[in-house]
Order: sequence, then C-alpha cells, then structure tokens
Amino acid sequence: MKYVQVGSQPLPAIAVGCMGLNKLSAKECDAFLSAAADAGLYYFDHADIYGGGECEQVFGEAATRLLLPREKLVLQSKCGIVPGVMFDFSKQHILKAVEGSLRRLRTDYLDILLLHRPDALAEPEEVAAAFDELEQSGKVRAFGVSNMHPYQIEVLKQCVKQPLVADQLQFSPAHAGMLSCGFEVNMLTDAGICRDGYIFDYCRLHGMALQAWSPFRYGFFEGVFLGDKKFQKLNDVLENIGQTYGVDPSAVVAAWILRHPAKTQVVTGTVNIRHLLAIAAGADVTLTREEWYKIYLAAGHTLP
Ligand SMILES: NC(=O)c1ccc[n+]([C@@H]2O[C@H](COP(=O)([O-])OP(=O)(O)OC[C@H]3O[C@@H](n4cnc5c(N)ncnc54)[C@H](OP(=O)(O)O)[C@@H]3O)[C@@H](O)[C@H]2O)c1
Repeated sequence: MKYVQVGSQPLPAIAVGCMGLNKLSAKECDAFLSAAADAGLYYFDHADIYGGGECEQVFGEAATRLLLPREKLVLQSKCGIVPGVMFDFSKQHILKAVEGSLRRLRTDYLDILLLHRPDALAEPEEVAAAFDELEQSGKVRAFGVSNMHPYQIEVLKQCVKQPLVADQLQFSPAHAGMLSCGFEVNMLTDAGICRDGYIFDYCRLHGMALQAWSPFRYGFFEGVFLGDKKFQKLNDVLENIGQTYGVDPSAVVAAWILRHPAKTQVVTGTVNIRHLLAIAAGADVTLTREEWYKIYLAAGHTLP
C-alpha cells in the first residue's frame, strides 16, 4: 500500500468512500468494513449528507459491532451542504453538523473534517471560529476542503490558522480537465480552459493532498466508464496494462491517479468487497510514463 502524507500523518493512498454504505444490510456492511480493515484500508471518507446521515449511522453501528479499535481508524467527514437548499459555512452550521457526524459515527472525534462545497456567503472569520472551537474541544484533529479552487482556499486561509491538509475533487482519466488545461496552455481549445484555478499546481505548491472522488465515473454522476462501450479504447488499454501487472483494470485506474507527482489519493465508491480489493492493488503499481500517457489519450484527450 502506498501512503500519502496528509497534514501530519501518512495515510493510505486509497480511502474508502462511504457514500453507498446504506445500500448494504448490516451483515454485508460488517463484512465490507472488516475486509477493508483487514486489507489495511482503514481510512474512511464520509459526509453528513450521505444517505441523509444513514451512511455514517450504519458505519458507526458496524464499527461498534465489529469492535474496530477507534485509534486504528481514520475517519474523515464533510459538512456545509444543505441538500437542494443551500451551502452553509456558518459557525453554527459547521458545529451542529460535526455534532451530528460524531453521534452517528459513534466517536468522540473526526480525524479530518472537510468543507464539502464552497459557500458563496462564507465568512472566513466564522469558519475560523468554528475550526478553533472544534480543534480546542478535540472534536476534529485536522481540516481540509472539497471542490474548491485556489482563491477560495486563500480567502479561508486569511483567517483559518490550522493547515488545510486536503482538497477533494472529482478526478479520473475520463474527468481530467484539471490536467488538460495544463497541457493546452495559451491555446484556443476547450480543453485549454481552466475551470479549477490550476488547483493541481496549487495543491503541489502548498503540500495539500488531492483526493480524487468518483475515480471510475464520467460526467457528473453520468455513469461508470469501466466496462462501458462508450469508453472502449480506454477499457482496452486498461485491460492491456492490467495484464502486464497482473491486476484488474480498476487497479490501473487507481495507479494512474496515484502516478501523478501531486499528493494524490483515490476515494473509492464501491461497496463490493471484490471490487474494493481489486482497486486497492493499484496502490502497489507504478505505471511508466508511456503507460500513463497512453491512458490519458485513450480516455479521449489529446496532446498538443
Ligand atoms: N467531495 C465530493 O463532493 C464527493 C462527491 C461524490 C463522491 N465523493 C466521495 O467519493 C466516493 C466515491 O464516489 P463514487 O461512488 O462516485 O465513485 P466511484 O468509485 O468512481 O464509483 C463507484 C461506482 O463504480 C463501480 N465500480 C467500482 N469498481 C468497479 C469495477 N471493478 N467494475 C465495475 N464497477 C465498479 C461501483 O459499483 P459497485 O459498488 O458494484 O462496485 C459504483 O457503482 C464516495 O463514496 C464519496 O466518499 C465525494
């Protein structure tokens, strides 16, 4: 397993996303979490809104049943979205959201709290006050963001004094605009348009981990590209490279994300044990430069 330095701690490069955990029965959930923990996948990504809170709830119940030692788990959650209504980075909302996550996860503290999606009405002073209170009370040990561009992070950093250790963003071979704009600098192409404020470079400059959510999807939850005929060329290349290393195509995707020299991590979404373990094998594969570019091109991108 590859480890990535996230703030002060080295964490597994593969984080287990828990957005779909509420699809499992209690028995299936127990089996999934024990298999993950046995494989060294002890870093779990949550959000207060996943399944309306149900995902954190079923995780907390399963971790209690399984007697998973808290100190051996890394629990990350997110807050700041009121689904379909608004984004809310007010102090009151952040504190209340964390209380809810702690209660559902049955824990006294979160290892990492991320602000889920930028709130246009955010007051950095309020975010800072919330973070200070959460840090002082020991309820949150480290802080980060999600779906933010560099200037939004800089605005927060004017008041927030804790290091922001990670930015979680959508990233996959089929959703790689964050890299394409870096290839097509100063070109009049669509791919040359920067939609993220050059966040990859920003994260590298500031030592932030870049956590890739939806590593196997394309579009905004349009579908999974693995095995999809629309992505035949990509799937053929993934299959081919997978055979070279004796791993599943999904592992090659993980290896592709982790091959970037930024501090990249993969946040999986599967709730299938076989799929999870297959993906995790990608953390032990280092792709060559040629293989990495072949995958980028096979996903339909071009190079100038
Ligand atoms: N920060 C944010 O705004 C944000 C947004 C969305 C998600 N997230 C986080 O990112 C995590 C991942 O998101 P996601 O679920 O969209 O990501 P994903 O891992 O790209 O997609 C999951 C889908 O891929 C399928 N899959 C995985 N391996 C497969 C394989 N080998 N063959 C066929 N299908 C396979 C899964 O099906 P099976 O279950 O059948 O394997 C599942 O339907 C979430 O759990 C959440 O923690 C964060």
